[in-house]
Amino acid sequence: MKILVTGAHGKVGRATTQALQAAGHEVIATDLGRPSFDRKPDGAPDYVQADLTDAGEAYAVVRGMDAVVHAAAIPEPTQNPPHVVFRTNIMATFNVLEAAVRFGVKRFVNISSETVPGFFFPERPFLPEYAPVDEEHPIRPQDPYALTKRFGEELMDAAVQRSDIRAISIRPCWVQTEDNYAQNLGPQVRDASVLSPNLWSYIDALDLADAIVLAAESELPGHEVFYIASPDNVGGRDFAEILHQYYGDKIELRELDRPDSSGITSRKAMRMLGWAPKRSWRDYLDEQGNPR
Ligand SMILES: NC(=O)c1ccc[n+]([C@@H]2O[C@H](COP(=O)([O-])OP(=O)(O)OC[C@H]3O[C@@H](n4cnc5c(N)ncnc54)[C@H](O)[C@@H]3O)[C@@H](O)[C@H]2O)c1
Repeated sequence: MKILVTGAHGKVGRATTQALQAAGHEVIATDLGRPSFDRKPDGAPDYVQADLTDAGEAYAVVRGMDAVVHAAAIPEPTQNPPHVVFRTNIMATFNVLEAAVRFGVKRFVNISSETVPGFFFPERPFLPEYAPVDEEHPIRPQDPYALTKRFGEELMDAAVQRSDIRAISIRPCWVQTEDNYAQNLGPQVRDASVLSPNLWSYIDALDLADAIVLAAESELPGHEVFYIASPDNVGGRDFAEILHQYYGDKIELRELDRPDSSGITSRKAMRMLGWAPKRSWRDYLDEQGNPR
């Protein structure tokens, strides 16, 4: 397929581009960064610079595609003014999806977020109702980022109602690459009392990219939402024990697939997309959270 990857220069977009190319797809990459006008290195995808908050630019890059993987966004709410996060994420998603519907693009992979339920960046903190968190968990976002991700999923619902497009929303956990495992996860591997709203969950960028390829190739009708989290937790601890130790009985414990389970489950993606994650933090860090 000819696939547009938006946000192609970002953490997720780079891994996705490589995985789609390795799977035999033609990738057209787009992002905000300046193009290079030198000869492309062998294997580099074609690149078009576009600001997707502009509808005309979005239409220009979406035209002619078989599928779109939409990863362009401001990836969290705290480092830009709220209205900038909101405007950027919602308008980019709206424009790219609207163009895809109007041009008859068949498949749309919407990179959403684990933050959709709302307990990641709330002004009035609250906890998940149960763990491992799954796609059925109630959704109550307060912050501009999670709201755009929630509304993005609703835009997908509307798109499959009004057209033949197929949509999949992927909710990745905190994305880790070879270069940032130690910085991001090292402290939590060393000490489980370093709490995170996602209950010690994470995802390897390469495993995430594999899920995105499966989503782009999927024949699933309508719009489906999938969490993508590594099956194990950061630190590989007994999940029932640490949940009880740090949260008491405030979060209901539900069935676990393994003792060292993640606090977010990707059971649905494994079942419906055939996703089979292969990497763990243990491939990059030792038991003290230092690089191997
Ligand atoms: N990194 C994570 O842990 C994480 C977790 C969950 C979800 N996500 C989501 O995954 C997607 C990719 O995140 P990432 O970690 O690669 O972030 P990133 O910041 O590394 O990449 C995002 C890319 O989007 C581009 N972009 C921003 N505004 C744009 C615009 N107006 N027009 C065109 N391009 C624009 C940026 O230039 C950047 O290259 C985002 O939707 C993010 O919300 C990320």
